[in-house]
Amino acid sequence: MVRSIPADRVRIMRCAVLGVLLSFSGFAADPTITFHKHIAPVLLEHCAPCHRPGQSGPFSLLTYEDARKRAGQIAAVTRRRYMPPWLPESGRVKFAGERRLTDLQIGQIGKWAAAGAPEGQASDSPRIPAFTSDWQLGPPDLIVEASKAFQSPADGADLYWNFVMTPAVSSTRYVKAIEIRPGNVSVLHHANLLMDRERSARRLEKVAGEGFAGMDLVVASNTFDPDSHFLFWKPGGAAVVEPDGMAWRLDPNNDLILNVHVQPSGKPELVKPSIGLYFTD
Ligand code: HEC
Repeated sequence: MVRSIPADRVRIMRCAVLGVLLSFSGFAADPTITFHKHIAPVLLEHCAPCHRPGQSGPFSLLTYEDARKRAGQIAAVTRRRYMPPWLPESGRVKFAGERRLTDLQIGQIGKWAAAGAPEGQASDSPRIPAFTSDWQLGPPDLIVEASKAFQSPADGADLYWNFVMTPAVSSTRYVKAIEIRPGNVSVLHHANLLMDRERSARRLEKVAGEGFAGMDLVVASNTFDPDSHFLFWKPGGAAVVEPDGMAWRLDPNNDLILNVHVQPSGKPELVKPSIGLYFTD
């Protein structure tokens, strides 16, 4: 015979199970940890590059209200180190621009969420950096834009598209910084920029200026060009400024090839990238 369990016993058992789950998944509440003092600096530095309007993150994490609504979720994804996205194993090598939270930061987020996400004093808050939707380094010396947008299909497998752009310079210039504006963050996984001094890749275009498909791009000059720099865009990345003395050379009639990895988003999207170039002597 099956013995029935009284309802209040069931409730107590449920609470016990939940309690065990919480003690495994969470941190002990610490109400002295507040959003403005401890959490905002972490979110602004490590999350806002993607979690703000116009970037790849699915929602903003700029304000207390943004963070309060998702405190539990933020605690869970940081504890699992799912966010911020950073794949290299920790330890042996320290990378420039490393995107990894410290154990202390993860613990603070967890204890803050467990305490019900206290706000604290707004006067403790760091200033929200002036994120601009314009060129991050100010007006570029030269802007090149793809002449034709690429239409990403609604669905299907990932694909690669190459845009050919020829910066209009009449003499050799030295590029100290670039900003790649991918044109549509919702479908772009990443983009790499290659130099094609022989203008060979453009022969693959069926119609001049429309670009061409393909992942493995081989350019005729076959060196690691431009001048051994690896130029790319990835979500949340800042504009790239080269160290002093390490500008790269741009000659008249050089082609820049922007090789983009497109992930269809469920609806057709247009991708029309542009690149801002900053010169030095
Ligand atoms: C490099 C860009 C980038 C950075 C930096 C980043 N995120 Fe995200 N985040 C994303 C993208 C893209 C998604 C949506 C896709 C996904 O869930 O993987 C996402 C999803 C999330 C989600 C939803 C996860 C889910 O399971 O649905 C949370 C919560 C989140 N991010 C929190 C954070 C927090 C907190 C930080 C900083 C500590 C952070 N993210 C940093 C790009 C970023």
